[in-house]
Amino acid sequence: MNDTLSAQAVGALHTVSLRCVECATLYPAIENSALPRYRCDCGGVLDVEMNIAQPVETASISQPDGAQWRQLFDERASTPPIWSISDERMLLDQSGVWRYRELILPAPEEDIVSRPEGNTSLYPVGMENCGPGRPGHRRIGLYADLEQLFLKHEGENPTGSFKDRGMTVGVTMARIIGAQAVACASTGNTSASLASYAAQAGMRAIVFLPAGNVAAGKLAQSLAYGATTIQINGDFDEAMKLVEQVCGELGIYLLNSLNPFRIEGQKGIGFEIMQQLDWQTPDWIVLPAGNLGNISAIGKAFRQACELSLISHMPRFAAIQAAGANPFYRSFKQCFAQREQVHAQTIATAIKIGNPVSYTRARRVIEESNGVVEEVTDEEILAAKAVIDRAGIGCEPASAATLAGIRKLVAQRTIRRDERVVGVLTGNLLKDSQTGIPPYQQQTLVEANIDAVRKVLFAQ
Ligand code: F0G
Repeated sequence: MNDTLSAQAVGALHTVSLRCVECATLYPAIENSALPRYRCDCGGVLDVEMNIAQPVETASISQPDGAQWRQLFDERASTPPIWSISDERMLLDQSGVWRYRELILPAPEEDIVSRPEGNTSLYPVGMENCGPGRPGHRRIGLYADLEQLFLKHEGENPTGSFKDRGMTVGVTMARIIGAQAVACASTGNTSASLASYAAQAGMRAIVFLPAGNVAAGKLAQSLAYGATTIQINGDFDEAMKLVEQVCGELGIYLLNSLNPFRIEGQKGIGFEIMQQLDWQTPDWIVLPAGNLGNISAIGKAFRQACELSLISHMPRFAAIQAAGANPFYRSFKQCFAQREQVHAQTIATAIKIGNPVSYTRARRVIEESNGVVEEVTDEEILAAKAVIDRAGIGCEPASAATLAGIRKLVAQRTIRRDERVVGVLTGNLLKDSQTGIPPYQQQTLVEANIDAVRKVLFAQ
């Protein structure tokens, strides 16, 4: 693949390296071997490291670094939210990932593959911070028993999940190294996103799915976007192992969150939350946890933002797992003495994962933020999903683990009622239009006349 590397790409990436999260060995971002590297020689996963320069566009202003960064990002965010594909700079500023490009990846602009993504809503839904015009939304705050609650709806991304944030960076890297084909194992959202971005970039997409365990909406997306869709007779963890082997042997670019550049893109969720809160750190960030890429990414964003003085301190993180797919919770309960694995079982298929790849990255976030890991049952997930759905916001089951977890953590007083909490909703309601939705039989069929309607509406 490297034969096609442009001098510009090599130049741009010379400040980027990859560090093993287990043994700290350092590798260049692009090596001279034929195949990209996803793991250290010791087997550990890798983390992107780069030298972050002063913000160029505001370098003349004499302010502390953090203020310069905030000014730069605020200026970019204030451009009108309509973009033309003929104006690449505008497109980048309006992506909720590339707006922060100096902190994401110094990619040549012409290589960037963006829809654009991000710019998702941060709904204030707490008992105190929900406006009076939205009593429906406020019910979520009542359910959580929280005064200051925000929901960051990542289901509003182009393909309906947070995965687009990582995929724009992953597919951009694929383009930079000249990959012809990209692949992933997925519980459905990564595959939908990969298929979309690969189609845009004119690459072949190959996705490996655990047969019978992917919600219909997600499967439809990968088929519609034209991905070669391979159902595996096995679970996600087996599909993950297989895709790593396939990519290694067949020279296909791997785009699971094992790929550290995916993590860099997902940091955009964290930066965008900070910006939407006017660079004030919330007390808590709460999110569902499966393969543990997302908590690793958002945690890294906050860590870097502290280092650059964009914000003053880290929030605490709470990772929520389904009780039947809870290896990270089990490890947390024993102070991470041992890395646990389970045979995963939950109705929230997106997080039905028993052996998460980003364990070490995620553990660091929990430890450094004085965070917690909690588990919630499928019943608790469905009850929380019904609350989010009935409020008119809606989300897929895995996302509802966030609210179920918040409610549990508030009830046990780990989160105080007056703390400021941001919960991440990771996927769109339409992804899974079966689980937890009232049965279709509950719809009412009537004759097309007002008497029939009156009978239905006012029947005792
Ligand atoms: N929520 C949703 C909707 C997801 O699709 C996923 C992961 C998660 C939460 C968990 O995030 O893995 O970073 O801890 N979905 C992956 C996929 C596994 O293949 O779409 P994580």
